[in-house]
Amino acid sequence: MYLVIKNAHVTFALISILLFVLRATWSVVESPKLQQKWAKIAPHVIDTLLLACAIYLMIASGQYPFAEGWLTAKLLALFAYIGLGTFAIKRGKTAGSRMFFSLLSIATFCYIFAVAITHSPWL
Ligand code: HEM
Repeated sequence: MYLVIKNAHVTFALISILLFVLRATWSVVESPKLQQKWAKIAPHVIDTLLLACAIYLMIASGQYPFAEGWLTAKLLALFAYIGLGTFAIKRGKTAGSRMFFSLLSIATFCYIFAVAITHSPWL
């Protein structure tokens, strides 16, 4: 069961970044596709499932943020990823700034992935 949920967690993480890249691209090129209903709802559904799996993994493995350094780093970087993402997709005023925040968000996501695999905040 643990492995199934862990694989689901990783799969939702990959879908999450793919949806982010798609929406960030639409945002930078100012495509009306960004306003499609599914494009607004799907990321929330995927991110909720990603976090639900994370909660299961934490409880089942007995590893928690603020007890394990790598999970603290993951959680804080997740908040940064969410915050940067709002500037990449909505709050960035120019296409250039949205592009800048998109790249920062993607770099933050790569950091989270690397922390997850190495179990170390320092990679
Ligand atoms: C964008 C966000 C996230 C990404 C990309 C991500 C990615 C991953 C990956 C790739 C693994 C598998 C690591 C391995 O094979 O050993 C993993 C496992 C795990 N993740 Fe995440 N994760 C994210 C968010 C979170 C959050 C927010 C938490 C909780 C604070 C969390 C808790 C865990 C736990 C407990 C495991 C299991 C580790 C183990 O079995 O030892 N993840 N994550």
